[in-house]
Amino acid sequence: ALPYDLAGRRVVISAGGTREALDPVRYLGNHSSGKQGYALARAAAQRGAQVTLVSGATSEPGEPAAVDIVHIDSAVQLEREMIEHARDADIVIMAAAVADFRPISVAGSKIKKGDDGPAPIRLDTNPDILAGLVRARSDGTLRRETVIVGFAAETGDADGGVLDHGRAKLRRKGCDLLVVNAVGDGKAFGTDDNTGWILTADGQETALPFGSKTLMASRILDEAASVVPHG
Ligand code: PMT
Repeated sequence: ALPYDLAGRRVVISAGGTREALDPVRYLGNHSSGKQGYALARAAAQRGAQVTLVSGATSEPGEPAAVDIVHIDSAVQLEREMIEHARDADIVIMAAAVADFRPISVAGSKIKKGDDGPAPIRLDTNPDILAGLVRARSDGTLRRETVIVGFAAETGDADGGVLDHGRAKLRRKGCDLLVVNAVGDGKAFGTDDNTGWILTADGQETALPFGSKTLMASRILDEAASVVPHG
């Protein structure tokens, strides 16, 4: 039986990929299917939490039961919804694959091929939403007790520095828990199974078994639930 340890807790989860518009018909995006974030939302709801899922583009066929869902396209929209919904959250999880950059401007009409070949795409930096949530917690916009969980999607393998990159990312972003998963070579993006590590801000590192994204979700929630303050 599933533990009912998140009863009455508020959990806010982002899932899927952002889409950064170039013109009315084109965008820059990524291969996130939303499976990992949706698995987290379903698992948290089954454990009794009141869940808000902020969803970008996914291949999920439907909406998870007993979950409030908010749809977004871009990273800027995702940031706004995360800050809004995270205000009274106990746990916030950033499983979405967020574009680090967006086109500097969105063309009002479909970009034409032109006679001079392809026009360069100029990019602006998107906000770092995870780091922003950590800052919002220190300045009192979010509750001080809110547990913030990030993900790190790194190419390579354990020997190739995936964990080292994860450790550095945990320090840089300042979240409480960081789930490190290897990507590329058909790993994590769009798959049904996943694996990786959970790193804690105080230096603990737990290897996660290879298994379904549902199993991975329950291990992540075990870890997050264990650091949520009581009361
Ligand atoms: O959706 P699936 O197909 O199931 O695949 C799952 C997944 C591989 C997308 C997921 O497990 C995952 O790793 N999500 C994070 C992807 C990502 O953007 O990783 P990153 O290493 O680039 O970013 C690190 C963290 O900062 C992430 O929590 C990310 O949500 C967040 N971020 C990143 C950029 C940005 N501008 N703002 C952010 O908040």
